[in-house]
Amino acid sequence: MNKSLLCLVLSETTLEKNKNILDTYRNFIDMVELRADYLTQREYAGIKDFPENIGIPAILTVRRASDGGRFRGRESDRRALLKQSLGSAYSYIDLETDFRDSEFEQRLKQSRIRIIRSFHDFDGVPANLAERIREMAGAEGEIPKAAVMPKSTKDLLTLLQCYKKLEDTEKILVGMGDFGFPTRILSNYLGSFLSYCARTGSQAAPGNKDPEEMVKLYGFHKIDNTTKIYGIIGNPIMHSFSPRIHNRGFKALEYNGVYLPFQVDNVGQFFKIAKLLDMNGFSVTIPHKQAVIRYLHGKHENINKIKACNTVIKKDGGYYGENTDVYGFLKPLKNYFGDPITQNIKATVIGAGGAARAVVYGLTRHNAKILILNRTEAKAKKLARIFNCQWGGLNPEEVKRIRDYSDLIVQTTSVGMKPNIKKDPISTFRFRGHEIVYDLIYNPPLTRLLERALDSNCKVINGEEMLLAQAQAQFQLFTGSDYIFPQNFVFEIFRG
Ligand code: ATR
Repeated sequence: MNKSLLCLVLSETTLEKNKNILDTYRNFIDMVELRADYLTQREYAGIKDFPENIGIPAILTVRRASDGGRFRGRESDRRALLKQSLGSAYSYIDLETDFRDSEFEQRLKQSRIRIIRSFHDFDGVPANLAERIREMAGAEGEIPKAAVMPKSTKDLLTLLQCYKKLEDTEKILVGMGDFGFPTRILSNYLGSFLSYCARTGSQAAPGNKDPEEMVKLYGFHKIDNTTKIYGIIGNPIMHSFSPRIHNRGFKALEYNGVYLPFQVDNVGQFFKIAKLLDMNGFSVTIPHKQAVIRYLHGKHENINKIKACNTVIKKDGGYYGENTDVYGFLKPLKNYFGDPITQNIKATVIGAGGAARAVVYGLTRHNAKILILNRTEAKAKKLARIFNCQWGGLNPEEVKRIRDYSDLIVQTTSVGMKPNIKKDPISTFRFRGHEIVYDLIYNPPLTRLLERALDSNCKVINGEEMLLAQAQAQFQLFTGSDYIFPQNFVFEIFRG
């Protein structure tokens, strides 16, 4: 089968603006779709000549509002616009499944303009999707197209199964929205004739990504059926930095892999997707670190203690769990407490949730004496009992106790995270300057807590360092190779 093409959707109000956008992205794409329904009426006269001088194949589309487009005029007017394609240099025309005009369609064929026969479903993935597409594929010379909106992991699974069923059928099949995002990148792997992209901020279809991101970050054109697929599961997930870290790592090694964000609302269904795509491994983030454990075929012994798994790799035909969060957390500490950590650290851990548990596990393995302070004292007590620590609530009285556990202060809660950046979970505590203060939050890079610590001349560590270190260990597990850090790496990943 031919390689999947990357099609830039042009949905500006004028042809000139569309041409400018095309010129910006020309190097990344293979073709364009002119969404004439976004044009102002004044531009209509120029539709016919638009493809002549752009030097790249073009699709003409005039989408009705009822199909998710902008065209609200009479159907006869829409047809008149579509007929501008006759005798023009358009390579394709997008006509919906209910559009029938045999004389016009005959003339299109004579003009060697291929019909893309499309339908859209913004409400989900129809159960009979594969059958519908197969039926549409019966029309000679036409390319059947469906753009559907997976609204759950189960929907994504249904959609991916359709690609399998339609392996030998030429078609355009696109998953919209966050759940559908992986289908846009894996277009070639899954066997779609093309995938769409659009300038950031364009409204033409939910989930269209920037062409530069699709090509530079995800390597759209390089993906084929030998590419090893990786990803990260979470909910929400589209904001994750992990695709930037891992895809850059693959590129630096010239490793034929791709790492995608998977929005997941059902971990059991996702494991079916992982098998269907023959995924080599994936990262796991909030809120699934615990839920994945029961689906693993095997796991590292520390997972029972930490009760969280952030890394899954394919091993012996099944999926095996690891936890690199502990390594990631400890790594930056080695600069201060020795490598391996041999000092007898007295530490405070703020919080008693999943992240705190990994932190406490890691520190106790290095014989640290720990005080756990948590808003809900009972949870601090429960965790403290398991790891033989001291505990307390998060009130000014208990916060004073940090003085006796202040070589290291680790903040594991979401307090201070964007958008609540003014919050500080231990605002009454006065630093003395010798404390090493470690906040697991990476957005913002400097929380209020860390700012206060810096003002008192403390050393500080933020969540970026932990995120990178845990990813580095994951990368090793995924590929068997060390991660190569490009120059300016932290800047590129987190602020670029
Ligand atoms: P994670 O896996 O990120 O640790 P979690 O297991 O849900 O997530 O734990 C969240 C932690 O942040 C808990 O310690 C929680 O305190 P409670 O046990 O009292 O809920 C803490 N946390 C969340 N919001 C907080 C807030 N506004 N003030 C203080 N602690 C908070």
